[in-house]
Amino acid sequence: MRKEPIIIGNWKMHKTPAEAVAFIESLECKAHLAVPFPALQAAAQAASRKGIEIGAQNLCEHSAGAFTGEVSADMIVACGASFVLVGHSERRHVYGESDELISAKLKQAIQAKLTPVLCIGETLSERELDKTEEVLKRQLSLGLEGVSGPFMIAYEPVWAIGTGKSASAQMAEQAHVAIRRFLGNKDVPILYGGSVNPSNAQELLKQDNIDGALVGGASLDVKTFTSIIRG
Ligand code: 13P
Repeated sequence: MRKEPIIIGNWKMHKTPAEAVAFIESLECKAHLAVPFPALQAAAQAASRKGIEIGAQNLCEHSAGAFTGEVSADMIVACGASFVLVGHSERRHVYGESDELISAKLKQAIQAKLTPVLCIGETLSERELDKTEEVLKRQLSLGLEGVSGPFMIAYEPVWAIGTGKSASAQMAEQAHVAIRRFLGNKDVPILYGGSVNPSNAQELLKQDNIDGALVGGASLDVKTFTSIIRG
């Protein structure tokens, strides 16, 4: 039997601690939520009674020290979080994070017993040049270099993020098959992200190699997010 899909809401830079708690109190199903740092502790406290997992959206590649403005894996764990997004497209493309930096962040997460969700995906021009598999392979091999421990992958084609243009279920499945082949490990959950909404989620989640979804905009409203989770 198939496992239940893993649905992660990525709130990006939305919701204060009070708004996060109000959302969690009205959510009546299991989910994962990647919340902004200031909301982590309050969200984790509100979620602990409800089977909701809380995660961060980023972390520092160092464990402690003179890194003004950064947040360590241990600090995230101390707030009650269980997972962390690493290498999200906006970190790569807006903040210039390299595969090497992302790999260092993954190792920090694993050391602290936080489950990292490694985000990968090609840009539109890489897809048009037929380089999708090459890009995914590079992001996986550099990102996972020297990494051992449980992790998840989120395949998020950059052109599908926040555009309303999701990959078709077939296109996403094809990329997930390539990722699974490259990983050579059936137990790593591979989530799809990029314009997931209540109308396309079920078709995506029906695919054999799509184990869940990473939902941005559609995770900000309780009713919309619930209808993605409940199907
Ligand atoms: P959207 O669902 O808003 O396209 O965002 C996807 C995403 O980046 C989730 O991490």
